Amino acid sequence: MSENTFYPENPSDSRLETLLSTEMLQWAKVNGSDFARLMAYYKCAMMEVETKFNVLNTEYSLKLDRNPISSVKARLKKPYSIIEKLRRMDKEISLSSLEENLSDVAGVRVICAFQSDVYMLADALLKQDDVTLVRKKDYIQNPKPNGYRSLHLIVTVPIFLAHEKKVMRVEVQLRTISMDSWASLEHQMRYKKDTSFTDEMAQELLRCAMLSAELDARMDKLGKQTGCHYM
Ligand code: GTP
Ligand code: MG
Repeated sequence: MSENTFYPENPSDSRLETLLSTEMLQWAKVNGSDFARLMAYYKCAMMEVETKFNVLNTEYSLKLDRNPISSVKARLKKPYSIIEKLRRMDKEISLSSLEENLSDVAGVRVICAFQSDVYMLADALLKQDDVTLVRKKDYIQNPKPNGYRSLHLIVTVPIFLAHEKKVMRVEVQLRTISMDSWASLEHQMRYKKDTSFTDEMAQELLRCAMLSAELDARMDKLGKQTGCHYM
């Protein structure tokens, strides 16, 4: 299931769906080609960042004799989700508003082996002179109340077009395999429509997040002892 946003792709309220699609149709008529162009720019920026991580993985795999990255996934936010989020934020539905207010149109998720790899890769990315950090949220040091852990970076990267250079924002989420499996299961459970999510379930999910954090910490320690980490 795609985690395009933290919200489900198809809300059950059909009135909202109709309203949004009418608005989207009108919007697309006015802005169609400009919107497609802007999305292409975001896609280029997303591919730049994805490549940067693949390059880092290749380089570090020589030094470490193992891959610090288990997988890199990239996604563009769908038009439906863009409009839904702007509406939710009570912002104007326009291309300039989209560029100004949304940081997660282009998203890259990096799934790492060890927790220390998360920080090693984030540092290596941010050291690159064409990457600028806009915002950092460390949900590993400070997990969300529900237990969610990941390192989130909003960065800008330049993309070089035929006649101009554009600087685009990209959301990067770095997490371990264990953080990813928790987040993915939590996402599926939270949006299961037919059962209500009780406080007891939330508590159990939090306990699972704590177990997952303990697993990462112990694996990191073992990794250090076995010489898996980069010094
Ligand atoms: P969004 O409006 O959802 O983008 O949130 P935000 O702007 O406050 O940013 P934040 O960094 O908190 O979260 C951005 C993204 O992180 C979400 O779109 C999800 O992909 C992921 N995320 C954040 N919190 C959770 C969570 O509790 N569970 C799961 N599964 N994913 C989360
Ligand atoms: Mg988001």
